[in-house]
Formats: sequence, structure tokens, C-alpha cells
Amino acid sequence: MLVFFSTRFLFFSIFVPFLISIVLYQLDSFDPVPFPADSLISSASSIPPLINDRFLTGAEFIGVGFLNSPEDIAYHKDSNLIYTGCVDGWVKRVSIHDSVNESVVEDWVNTGGRPLGIAFGLHGEVIVADANKGLLNISDDGKKTELLTDEAEGVGFKLTDAVVVADNGVLYFTDATYKYNIHQFIFDFLEGKPHGRLMSFDPTTRVTRVLVKDLYFANGVSLSPDQTHLVFCETIMRRCSKYYINEERVEVFIQGLPGYPDNIRYDGDGHYWIALISEVTTPWKLAMKYPFLRKLIYIAAKYGVELLFIKNAGVMQVDLNGKPIALYHDHPFSHITSGVKIGNHLYCGNLLHSYITRLDLLKYPAQKKL
Ligand SMILES: *[C@@H]1O[C@H](CO)[C@@H](O)[C@H](O)[C@H]1NC(C)=O
Ligand SMILES: *[C@@H]1O[C@H](CO)[C@@H](O)[C@H](O)[C@H]1NC(C)=O
Repeated sequence: MLVFFSTRFLFFSIFVPFLISIVLYQLDSFDPVPFPADSLISSASSIPPLINDRFLTGAEFIGVGFLNSPEDIAYHKDSNLIYTGCVDGWVKRVSIHDSVNESVVEDWVNTGGRPLGIAFGLHGEVIVADANKGLLNISDDGKKTELLTDEAEGVGFKLTDAVVVADNGVLYFTDATYKYNIHQFIFDFLEGKPHGRLMSFDPTTRVTRVLVKDLYFANGVSLSPDQTHLVFCETIMRRCSKYYINEERVEVFIQGLPGYPDNIRYDGDGHYWIALISEVTTPWKLAMKYPFLRKLIYIAAKYGVELLFIKNAGVMQVDLNGKPIALYHDHPFSHITSGVKIGNHLYCGNLLHSYITRLDLLKYPAQKKL
């Protein structure tokens, strides 16, 4: 009797789900491919000498409850306001003060899409990389929103991600993937094929140019202070590359990062700040190696089961040559998407919380690991 019971138990609890998964696996056309070998390397030279691994100990929270997944942060010096794009479509403005509880959050413009990257144009306009809409130009009074571009070389954007404005007015921006939208971005990670592009938009000619294609989730983009090159991040590859604008040449900036890079920002003072959305967790490591695992994770995700673990996010400071200086992170921290230095504070956007996080870098500095 007991034998019968446990056999039946085994049958229903293990054998049937196993059969169902095999059938689902076979039926699904999702076809992940191996990643290039250089996506798997970790490099000791990309670990900074200075580390603060207790970011949350000193962290302060801004606009709690009023900011819904504020992804990117752009600081407008003259007005002392932060502009940030939220998941509800609002570009919000946040006033900056010594004390965070004095910050006021204002709903500024709703794009009707999902504003991600934010930059300021030469004439006071606000340029938005909107995941759903493409590249937008919002007039300085917030009254007019114009679509600048949403396709290049006949391929439409699916996840316009980040933007930077050059001194000559040219906009440089990324479309993370032409295949998946923002709700499906994890599928792009799992498939392992390069659907991302780095592009430019020249407002005088209104021409959109593809500068680099076949990128693995093209994410943050920044400009070198001398305006000779861009630095852009490929999240899945855990690397950032330089693109020399005149020579049209790509070169590695930093690779084998200790996490998955999102936005990158230049601070006007010799350093870039690269947000790392998660460290490389063990499930991620295995999934990168084995395409069949990524297919299983994909099937689970389609049925609402989240198998990838995201943790230990932070922001890394690197110099102009891509040499790591410092890392600010914390184990329970996750989904950090941007880091912007304003005064002595590091302000961080994210894809999960209802606030912006900041850390006083003088009070809570990164230090040499003993
Ligand atoms: C903000 O916090 C500071 C320090 O905690 C406190 O002195 C001040 O009264 C607070 N201000 C407001 C507007 O709540
Ligand atoms: C954005 O639109 C404004 C008018 O609202 C215009 O003056 C400006 O040149 C435009 N910027 C770009 C980059 O197209």
C-alpha cells in the first residue's frame, strides 16, 4: 500500500512535471545560442582597489513613494533639479537640498511611453530615450514633445535606452535590442544574440546613422570630455567599449566587469560612473555557459517564474582610460541603473524602488580592502 502510494506520488510530483517540461521545451521555438567566449571571462584587473560594500549603511532616500522606478538621472545645474524617467511614463523633476526630506518631486511631462535615458539639449530642451517610443525632444517649457527618430536602416527601435548630447549638438544613443520590448528584455539576455545598436541623430540633417550594430544589449552611453569618443556599455557582455567618432573605430574600454553594466555617466571631473545592475550570480554564470539552461529559464519566465537572481548592485568609478578606481555596492541592493555624482553625493536610479538613493562619498568613502 505504502509502495503504491509513493509510486503514485513520485509519478505526479516528478515524472509528470518532467514530461510536461520536456514537451514544452520541444514545442518552444526559442533558440538560445552560445555566447562568445569573451563574455565569460572575469578579470581581476576590473576590480577596483577601493570598495565600500555597505552602501545601504549610509544611504539616504529621496522622493520616497513619488518616484516609480526612476531609471536614469540627469542633473540640471542651473535649476538644481534632477530629471528622471519613471515607469508610469512621467519625466519627473526633483529638487536637490542638503537634507533629503526637503526634496520636492514634480510631475513634469508624461511621454506616454517608458522614459529611460535623459540628457539636456543645447537649447534647453530635454532629450529622452524612451523605451517604447524612440528618441524624443521635449521643449524646455514641457509643452511640446517631438519624436526625433524611431528607426534606422529600415529596422525599428524596440528598446531605446540611453542618450548623450555632444557639444556640436549631435545626439548619440542606444537601442538595446530591436527584437524585444522592455517587458521582455530578459528574453534578449537569454537568447544570447546581439540585437543592439549604437546610433547618432544629427538635428541639422535629421539623419539617423547606425555607428555600431550587433551589440549585446546596448545600454548606457557617455562622451569623453575631449569629445573624441563615446563610451558605451553592453550589459550581457559585462563590458564597455570606446567608439572613436572620427575614425569610426571600436576599442575595449573595460571588460570582465564584476557586474552587469547599465548607464554610464561622466562627472566632469576625470571619472566615469558605471551602474552595475547586479553582480554575476551563480545561476547567471551557469546560464551564460549553457544555452539549454537559458531555454529552461525562458520557459519558466513565460509561466511567470523568475529564476534569475539579481543582487549586490552598485556603481563603479573608473578613470578616463577605463582603470577601476572605486566600487560602491551592497549585497541586498539590486536593480541599480544609474549613478550620477552631484557635489559630494552619488545619486542612484533604479528599476525597482519608489525613490532615488544617494550616498555621501566623503562620509562613506570606498576604502582599501584589507
Ligand atoms: C528634515 O530632517 C532634518 C534632520 O533629520 C530635520 O531637522 C528637519 O526638521 C526635517 N525637515 C522637514 C521639512 O521635515
Ligand atoms: C527640440 O525642439 C526645440 C523646439 O521645441 C528646438 O529648438 C530644438 O532645436 C530641438 N532639438 C533637437 C535636438 O532637435
